[in-house]
Amino acid sequence: MTDLWSGTYKNPRYWGDTAAALIATAELHPGSTVLDLGTGYGGTLFPVRERIGDTGRMVGIDVEAECVEWTRQEIATRGIGNVEVLLMDARSMSFPDACFDVIVAGMVGLDEDYDFDANQPIDGAPMIREMLRILKAGGRLYLSGWLWQEHLEWMAQLVRQFVPDSDKHGYFPTTREGYLDLLRGSGFERIHTTPFDERYTFDDPAAWMAVVRHSWEPELSRIQDVPARRRAFENAAFDLLAAHTDAGGRLAYRISALLVAAQKPAAGCPANHRRNRESRARGWVPL
Ligand SMILES: C[S@@+](CC[C@H](N)C(=O)[O-])C[C@H]1O[C@@H](n2cnc3c(N)ncnc32)[C@H](O)[C@@H]1O
Repeated sequence: MTDLWSGTYKNPRYWGDTAAALIATAELHPGSTVLDLGTGYGGTLFPVRERIGDTGRMVGIDVEAECVEWTRQEIATRGIGNVEVLLMDARSMSFPDACFDVIVAGMVGLDEDYDFDANQPIDGAPMIREMLRILKAGGRLYLSGWLWQEHLEWMAQLVRQFVPDSDKHGYFPTTREGYLDLLRGSGFERIHTTPFDERYTFDDPAAWMAVVRHSWEPELSRIQDVPARRRAFENAAFDLLAAHTDAGGRLAYRISALLVAAQKPAAGCPANHRRNRESRARGWVPL
């Protein structure tokens, strides 16, 4: 029988596919000035950099120092000159007003800006408000978010059997209506959404477990550490996954994401005519 805990993590293909799909919708031109918000490990940054070429300028930001360090190293390894990555919180960015042509934000949760369960913005939607501020008039925003990830829902279902107070999905589910409400309410216009729906497979339960487990490490260690609970969890997992196994013995699952494009009004946004303060621009050379 497969050892459920033995798989090693491999970046699932859908990450690259959703980033590629987002970028395919984007108006990006050689020479553009682009912010990659929530750079992570560069899943969106590097393909966008290819599109804008050597004459453009690109900045990535992330709140995780480890991501910033890793991506800086990768940029150096690739010998790319016109990209920099900064440790910065997207809710309070130190860029001057109106300095980017394009912002891309691949799979950056907007859970601090919008309550997608209650369908309402949160506390003035700090991240979206900042995006609007730093975009040039007529500048474009491209973002993506998860609507559904079936393979993570399987794990959520299992964990709930063993840890009843766990209410995690393992990802942050969003809705099309929520994005429209958030972006319209913040002053964006020309908002278009494109669904991204795909079916993928894992070779076996261990491959599934390796990809999904990291969101539930605290719960799983409580299960793993008690032999009887561990066995019960494994049995429940194999039963549940059997229902999703295809004829070739592989686990078939669906994911749904939403790709969202929007524009800052060409004439500027009245709500956004806040003057840039000296301190905000510290450490940043205006573009
Ligand atoms: C799911 S990853 C996506 C990474 C990348 N955009 C991609 O397409 O592969 C989301 C990233 O957004 C970053 N992030 C979340 N909130 C942020 C914030 N307030 N400011 C900056 N980065 C943030 C996280 O640290 C994480 O690295």
